[in-house]
Amino acid sequence: MRIATVLLTTFLAACAGGNPETKEIVIGQFGSLSGGAATFGLSTRNGIEIATLEQNAAGGIAGAQIRMVVEDDRSLPEEAATAVNKLLSRDRPVALLGEVASSSSLAAAPLAQAAGVPMISPSSTSPKVTQVGDYIFRVCFIDPFQGTAAAQFAYNTKAVRTVAVLTDVKSDYSVGLAQYFKETFVSLGGTVIAEEAYSANDLDFKAQLTNIVSKSPDAIFVPGYYTETGLIARQARDSGYKGILLGGDGWDSDKLVEIGQDAIVGGFYTNHYSVDDPSPIVQDFIKKYQEKYGAKPDGLAALGYDSAKILYQAMTTVAKNPAHAAAFADRSAVPATEGARKAARAALRDELAGVKGFPGVTGTITIDKDRNAEKPAVVVEVTKDGPRFVESISPGASAAPVPAEGAAAAPEAATATIEGAPAPAEGAAPAPAK
Ligand code: PHE
Repeated sequence: MRIATVLLTTFLAACAGGNPETKEIVIGQFGSLSGGAATFGLSTRNGIEIATLEQNAAGGIAGAQIRMVVEDDRSLPEEAATAVNKLLSRDRPVALLGEVASSSSLAAAPLAQAAGVPMISPSSTSPKVTQVGDYIFRVCFIDPFQGTAAAQFAYNTKAVRTVAVLTDVKSDYSVGLAQYFKETFVSLGGTVIAEEAYSANDLDFKAQLTNIVSKSPDAIFVPGYYTETGLIARQARDSGYKGILLGGDGWDSDKLVEIGQDAIVGGFYTNHYSVDDPSPIVQDFIKKYQEKYGAKPDGLAALGYDSAKILYQAMTTVAKNPAHAAAFADRSAVPATEGARKAARAALRDELAGVKGFPGVTGTITIDKDRNAEKPAVVVEVTKDGPRFVESISPGASAAPVPAEGAAAAPEAATATIEGAPAPAEGAAPAPAK
């Protein structure tokens, strides 16, 4: 009789699509699905989507299916705050995934923190993001490391001795990365011979580039996003610049070459992973992504996937406690159960803070005491057919960089070791093949 009742209930639940008995857990996602950084949000959404489909196919979380609610912030920090306010009040998510751009994560993080809703940025690298509070996490490395890696690559691998830096002064990411790059580059013995500024959505960089080109730097470091970087590359070449163009993860978009064309080909940037990495975890992900979206995943897609995987793993652990499982699926706004919902999110926060050795597509992820992930970076070269792996750079204070002629001793802050292809990287980072 009991079995019959269960079967009947299951049957009825299956018939009624919107049956309130069908348990569902809502996660909020905010990102740049349109605007000047649109490929960031779109790739991230795709990576998260694959992780979510996998989790739901495997039974969801404690029997509840995950429903992802995505809000577009049009690549604008103020819209990121609006999007998160909307998600928090309308959808009452258990956790938030976003944003990519550090300025947008910074605009939204105080709202997540105040609401006690864990937020994971897949890819914001400004140290300031997780400093907002103890509910804010990321699964990527931070810019003091990325800037050090870029400067070491420039000085040691490319023998660059003079640089110009062209910074997006309205972007927390760009300002921070420029600063960390300069610190390491100067401490290695290099000289910053020009510094110029622009703002996102600018189209004309000729005045800045005229100043830069007149000083003939060995390289121009452009810690910006792909849209402006593509235009800057073209205008730099039009101004007669023949030196090296260098940047950071903000270049990571298939639109970079579309916009920058031949001018950006041959440029180098630091990034979070490489499609050339032969390790099975990377190649499996690339295969799945390509089957679903017909394109190779960029670093954003890989980080989006990793951020969702880590979130679902933590939620699964927390949901072993039936009270927390029930609270995750409880979207009522009734005050009587608010305490239980808060407790479940606090338990999720604690679980995320303890993530150790998670095998991500973008490397092994351990959340440190500042809620950041310490991971290797790769340097890639821009080619017409996409980014090509050049070398892997691991965090680590011990190893000194390959000394270049006339190089000063590596500073304490410059904690990166470079491993060039095809030598295998040590430790967590499998060295991508050439
Ligand atoms: N790290 C960039 C930021 O903080 C965002 C980004 C990550 C862009 C990865 C491209 C690839 O703003």
